[in-house]
Amino acid sequence: MLMTTKPMFDLAYDGGFGVGAFNVNNMEITQGIIEACAAEKSPCILQISKGARKFANIKMLKHIIDACVELYPEVPIAIHCDHGDTLDLIKTCINDGYTSVMIDGSHHPYEENVHLTAEAVKLAHAAGVVVEAELGMLGGIEEDVVGLDAHEYEKNVEKFLTDPVQAHDFVTRTGIDSLAVAIGTSHGAFKFKHEPKLAFDRVEAIMKTCPGLPLVMHGSSSVPKEFIDLINKYGGNMPGTMGVPEDQIARAVRKYGVCKVNIDTDLRLALTAKIREVFATKPGEFDPRNYLGPARDAIREMVKRKLQMLNSSGKAEAVIQHWKSQGEPMPAYYSAAAAV
Ligand code: G3H
Ligand code: 13P
Ligand code: ZN
Repeated sequence: MLMTTKPMFDLAYDGGFGVGAFNVNNMEITQGIIEACAAEKSPCILQISKGARKFANIKMLKHIIDACVELYPEVPIAIHCDHGDTLDLIKTCINDGYTSVMIDGSHHPYEENVHLTAEAVKLAHAAGVVVEAELGMLGGIEEDVVGLDAHEYEKNVEKFLTDPVQAHDFVTRTGIDSLAVAIGTSHGAFKFKHEPKLAFDRVEAIMKTCPGLPLVMHGSSSVPKEFIDLINKYGGNMPGTMGVPEDQIARAVRKYGVCKVNIDTDLRLALTAKIREVFATKPGEFDPRNYLGPARDAIREMVKRKLQMLNSSGKAEAVIQHWKSQGEPMPAYYSAAAAV
């Protein structure tokens, strides 16, 4: 069932679980995710980056997601724009039927971030769409945007974490529905040189200044060794990878107000590992179904484990009941479509 992220976060905040937000780029990735959610009876957020819109064409991705909604009515699904960077993109996503958008102005000076985010909230809320924004800077991709060396970032990570006092000001002035926080996670497969420790003291402080606000953890792939080993065994070259330890993610969703956990890299790794394995072990194989199929299976099994780790298995029905009981309207896109 399609919905915004609100009913999911309402239950997740105090319910000791987190909702997995998985990036979708094609049919097989989306199928692997949704099959796992159906098997685990878990809600999910399917998120689309600007790059995914460009690669797959938004109509194509939207129809794939619409098919998931039709085929799996028992799975609560939100369609989310990941790292939206302009108001034009936010408008386009609202008009394309997303139920949630992220406006990411975290790389701008603070006042500019406030202004951009507040404008995005006005547009989205008028259309019944919820908004995530970001404060602070993660490692991985975001430091590249501002031209910062990865070592510099890791050495001074404290300085880039979300400031709890600023977070309160930001939320009050923008009216956002959830906040992506920098608490020591990082995008991509090469996240850290040393095993990280998430800044739980910072999360606690943000929860004090922004009580009840759903928090979002980007850069939350754990970069499973089994996939890296397969990739490297079958012709790949990915030395020095490191992800966020799953026990720390599990703690963030069980004990703190982290309601949304973003995972993209692990999907890419599962897909790549399986395709490499098939190509290396069956060199005569050229039917895409025989390598994309195992890749889809690997994604499904990996996502099932993630949903258990996030403690969101078995939460689908409660989310649907909560959504229905709240009587919240769907975004205007859907009522307008129904009215036609
Ligand atoms: O955080 C970024 C996501 O992993 C999306 O990556 O922009 O390459 O699609 P992308
Ligand atoms: P990973 O690179 O850790 O999968 O993070 C994905 C993400 O944050 C998407 O917004
Ligand atoms: Zn991200």
